Amino acid sequence: MIFFASDHAAVEMRRHLLAMVHDQGFDVEDLGADGSQSVDYPDFAHALAARISNRSSDLGILLCGTGLGMSMAANRHIGIRAALCHDAYTAEMARRHNDANVLCLGARVLGEGVAEQIVRIFITTEFDGGRHARRVDKIETGV
Ligand code: RB5
Repeated sequence: MIFFASDHAAVEMRRHLLAMVHDQGFDVEDLGADGSQSVDYPDFAHALAARISNRSSDLGILLCGTGLGMSMAANRHIGIRAALCHDAYTAEMARRHNDANVLCLGARVLGEGVAEQIVRIFITTEFDGGRHARRVDKIETGV
């Protein structure tokens, strides 16, 4: 399952990307916001993070104006590795090297085409494992 959530700053882009991912054959679930009012991004980051359990195949995509607040809030959750990506390379490496399970995007930062490219790469790229698995494990165990 690929979960989507955003605050009011990114409703249009979230809906666009969700439709694209759904059209590509993935199961998607939309966790809001509905866009009718200004909301607090941590509420949506926490709701999405709570739906993703570590070591499952679930992924999350969080959007706000910059992607910053969403990534900060989501990364407070054990087992969540949220990556704020602005380009194709960081999206690829977030999956291959960091086993990121949540992608954060800034709707006020990215054009639609770049956002689409980042999402496509993020959801289709696998974790490399190997030495990277040891390092990813240390994210949780080293604190
Ligand atoms: C909302 O104005 C904005 O602060 C929010 O979308 C996000 O960019 C926070 O990190």
